[in-house]
Amino acid sequence: MPVGPRGCGSDQHIVLVGMMGTGKSTVGRILAQRLRRPLIDTDTEIEALVGRSIRSIFLEDGEPVFREVESRVLHEALCSEPSVIASGGGIVLAEHNRELLRSSGARVIWLKADPKSLVERVATAGHRPLLDADPLGTLMAMFEARKSLYSEVAGRIISVDQRSAIEVAEAILR
Ligand code: S3P
Repeated sequence: MPVGPRGCGSDQHIVLVGMMGTGKSTVGRILAQRLRRPLIDTDTEIEALVGRSIRSIFLEDGEPVFREVESRVLHEALCSEPSVIASGGGIVLAEHNRELLRSSGARVIWLKADPKSLVERVATAGHRPLLDADPLGTLMAMFEARKSLYSEVAGRIISVDQRSAIEVAEAILR
């Protein structure tokens, strides 16, 4: 079994990466049910660890603090029993997170979408303060900045455009 930093890692983990609104949490929930594995949603874990909402962490502590907690949560998730891990869209920004993903041996899947198709899907979510101003412009710029990072860590790419979460989960299971 590939071993990550401090002895952690499992090639049994399935890690979903991709932009906000691509359905990582929903697809992760379906996969976890089908595979009878725990679902670890990094955003939910961060909120539980800090005891406050993501919006509040961003606004009161700042993005760097959020990213630090996010890295810790990713590391702990990769050290846990084989799980489905739905990661936050920015998990790939830190080089050490990308290294952690690569060295863990986890199966990393990039849920890829045209950023234009994501605008409606992210409209209602309060845990995405980065999209408060100009969601479309921000999503497009983020996609350009991050696409090579997702591709660096992912062993597989699944297009989610025009596919339901169940169809995406089934494509992954196949
Ligand atoms: C972020 C994505 C969000 C959340 C935070 C930052 C990002 O998670 O972690 O708002 O930088 O892309 P989702 O991808 O689950 O929306």
